[in-house]
Amino acid sequence: MDKIIVKGGHPLQGEVVVSGAKNAALPILASALLADGKSVYRNVPDLADVVTMLKVLETMGCGTARLTGRQKDVCEVAIEGPITPEAPYDLVKTMRASVLVLGPLVARFGRARVSMPGGCAIGARPIDQHLKGLKALGADITLTEGYVEARAKQLKGATVNFDVITVTGTENVMMAAVLAKGRTVLENCAREPEVEELARVLNKMGARIQGGGTSVITIDGVDALQPVDHAILPDRIEAGTLMVAAAITGGNVLVKHAQPEHLESVILKLRETGCTITAEEKGLRVKGPKVVNSVDVKTTEHPGFPTDMQAQLMGLMTVANGTSVISESIFENRFMHVPELHRMGADITIQGHTAVVKGVKKLSGAPVMATDLRASASLVLAGLRAEGKTEVARIYHLDRGYERLERKLRKLGADIRRVKA
Ligand code: EPZ
Repeated sequence: MDKIIVKGGHPLQGEVVVSGAKNAALPILASALLADGKSVYRNVPDLADVVTMLKVLETMGCGTARLTGRQKDVCEVAIEGPITPEAPYDLVKTMRASVLVLGPLVARFGRARVSMPGGCAIGARPIDQHLKGLKALGADITLTEGYVEARAKQLKGATVNFDVITVTGTENVMMAAVLAKGRTVLENCAREPEVEELARVLNKMGARIQGGGTSVITIDGVDALQPVDHAILPDRIEAGTLMVAAAITGGNVLVKHAQPEHLESVILKLRETGCTITAEEKGLRVKGPKVVNSVDVKTTEHPGFPTDMQAQLMGLMTVANGTSVISESIFENRFMHVPELHRMGADITIQGHTAVVKGVKKLSGAPVMATDLRASASLVLAGLRAEGKTEVARIYHLDRGYERLERKLRKLGADIRRVKA
C-alpha cells in the first residue's frame, strides 16, 4: 500500500493540466449500455473508480479497452453480444457509483440485478430516490439477498419529483427515461455540470432531452440510441483542489482547462480568502495570498459551494488569519479529515454538521491517515503548507479520484513523492 510523503513550505509555481471529470466519466461509461455498437470516450481520467466501472461493464459481457501511448486517455466500450444485466456485490461494494448501470440496464434489457450499495465513510447514502424514479417509470423493483432486482417489459414516461436533490439519482432515472415510451418530466433535479454533460452525451446518442443542468428535465423517449464518440469535460473538483494548492502555498499557478462557469462558487470563496484569480485563455490563474483570510462556507447543491471541496477549503482555513465556520449540509459524516488535521496542529471544533476552524500560525508535519477521497486531498494540501514532513497513508482513497496528484504537484515545485508503505 502506497503512501505520500510531502515536505511543506514551497510556493507552487507554473502550469498544471486538469484531467477529465470522474463524476462525468462514470455515468457516461454506464450510458454505453444504452446502444449497440462501440462508443469511444476521450479525456477519460486514469482513476481506480474508472477501472472499476470498466470491470462492471466487462462482467456483463461488454467489450472494453483503454488505449495506450498518445491515446491513453481514450476508452472504448462495445456492446456487441449478449449482456448479463448484473452488477455483482464484489464490485459495487468498492464503488457505489456502479449503481449507475441500473437505469440503462432495465431500460435497454428489461431486467437488471444490481447489488445494493452499502453505506460509505461520508454517509448512509441511500438510493431510495433512484428506485422511486424507476418505479414511477413502471419498473417492478424487488430487493433480494442485498440485490435490487428491476424488471420492466417497457418503461413508460412519467413525472418524477425527487424528494432530495440527488446527482446520481437524476442521472440514473434520466438514462432509463431516454428509452421509455412517451414523455418523462423529472423535477427537483441535480443541476451539477456532470448531469448536464450526461444529458449532452445522451442527446448525441439520439436521445431527446431538454433542461439538462436545470432543476426540471424533460425527456421524450426514443426507440433506440446510437454509440457515440465524446470527450469528457475537465474535472472541476480536481481544478478546485489545485487552486487551493496554489492558495495554501502562496503560489502562482495556471490551472489549465479549468472552466470558470463550473467553478463560480469556488472562485468567489477563494477570492474572499485573498486569492487573485483571473481567467486566462488556457484556464484559471491563481495567485495565493500572503495572509489567508478566514471565510465562512456552507456546502449546498450546485451552483452552491460543492461538498466535494469542503475538506480542501477546511485545509486552507486551518492557517487563515481568524476563525471560519464550515457547515456541511449534504453528507452527515464528512468531517473525517478533522482528527487528522488536529494531528498537524490545526484548531478545529465540530458541533454537529458545523466545524469551527481557528486559524493557527503554522501546521507541523505528521503521519496522518486518509479516510475518504476528498479528506485525503485536504491532508496533502495541509502537508504542502506544514513545517516538516507529512506522511499520508491509505492513499488508495486519493487514487480513486485524482490522476497522479503528487506528480502534478511536484511539477509545480512541491517536495512530494509516493513511496511503498
Ligand atoms: C455524487 O454522489 C458524487 N458522486 C459525489 O462525489 C458528490 O459528493 C455528490 O454527488 C454530491 O455532490 C458521483 O457523481 C459519482 P447525491 P451521489 O445522491 O449522487 C441523499 C466525490 O468525492 N440521497 O447527490 O451519491 C444522500 O444521502 C463523490 O467525488 C438520498 O437520501 O450523491 C445525500 O445526503 C463523493 N436518497 C444527498 O442526497 C437517494 O436516493 C446527496 O446525495 C439519493 C441521495
